[in-house]
Amino acid sequence: MFKEAKKRKVILDCDPGHDDAVAIMLAAQAPNLELLGISTVAGNQTLAKTTCNALHVVQHLNLNVPVYEGCGRPLVREQAIIADDIHGETGLDGPKFAPLSRQKEQKHAVLWIIETLMAAQDPITVVTCGPMTNLALAMRLEPKIVDKIETFVFMGGSYQLGNVSPAAEFNILADAEAAHIVFSAGWSQLVMVGLDVTRQCLVLPEVLDRMDKIPTKAGRLFVDLMKFFNASQKATFGWAGGPLHDPLTVGWLMDPSLLELKHVHATVDIQHGESYGRTNCDVLNYLKQEANLYVATGVDVPRYWDLLERTLSSYPEEN
Ligand code: RIB
Ligand code: CA
Repeated sequence: MFKEAKKRKVILDCDPGHDDAVAIMLAAQAPNLELLGISTVAGNQTLAKTTCNALHVVQHLNLNVPVYEGCGRPLVREQAIIADDIHGETGLDGPKFAPLSRQKEQKHAVLWIIETLMAAQDPITVVTCGPMTNLALAMRLEPKIVDKIETFVFMGGSYQLGNVSPAAEFNILADAEAAHIVFSAGWSQLVMVGLDVTRQCLVLPEVLDRMDKIPTKAGRLFVDLMKFFNASQKATFGWAGGPLHDPLTVGWLMDPSLLELKHVHATVDIQHGESYGRTNCDVLNYLKQEANLYVATGVDVPRYWDLLERTLSSYPEEN
């Protein structure tokens, strides 16, 4: 009698990465999302490692989601930067995975993204949780994909402080030119989930204890991931718990009330100075320029943990 609401079709581009892995876990299990595929990019670790890590997550949780390998270096920068200080040698240190049998798809991620978007009858949502190299290259190869993307939500940047430099956040710094291409494309709904809100979502001991009670394989994987992630975040930044950056993008798609957004004019600094990679968001609208993205300015942290617990608990119990 009631027509089931159509699921939002999602492409998830990421650089697993501990928090990226949790974003995959949410996107694959969200009741209102259809995860069409995962594309990987160099970022937290090398491309080979981020691809391997995405495959480990989908294999470990038996997810029927294809993984496509993307770009192994930024569009312009000579040197890729990695975050092995946070994510370790493998890029997903901590959990023990079975030998990998799941294979990546043969098609390059950028071509898969273009073909998927151009063939889509329904609007598609794109989520990026790493450097935006794949999406920027896809936009240059086929500019028509901009009109096929209804919502583009990304974890990156901040309107306040950076992390891997005083000015810049890692995903943007790692490929600022790619971010500049994305920021300049004139989306109707570009949503920036930056450090301003993700740094309020620390996986503190009480959060970890809460998730440690979840009797599912996903709950166990979350805890094993966070034990390493928390230790490295504490050693590097002194955080009492790791900021759970990437999953907040998917969390917002699952429950838009998680975030307060402000429509602002924002640019990426691609000049090669101390502020290279900084996202400059005119939150005061002093310059009266046309707004081009929605930046997250507030987050309902308890609601985020409720959503995370609910979703991890919805996975099959650990055998
Ligand atoms: O700055 C945080 C971002 O950089 C997250 O996406 C994390 O996974 C790393 O990619
Ligand atoms: Ca990431």
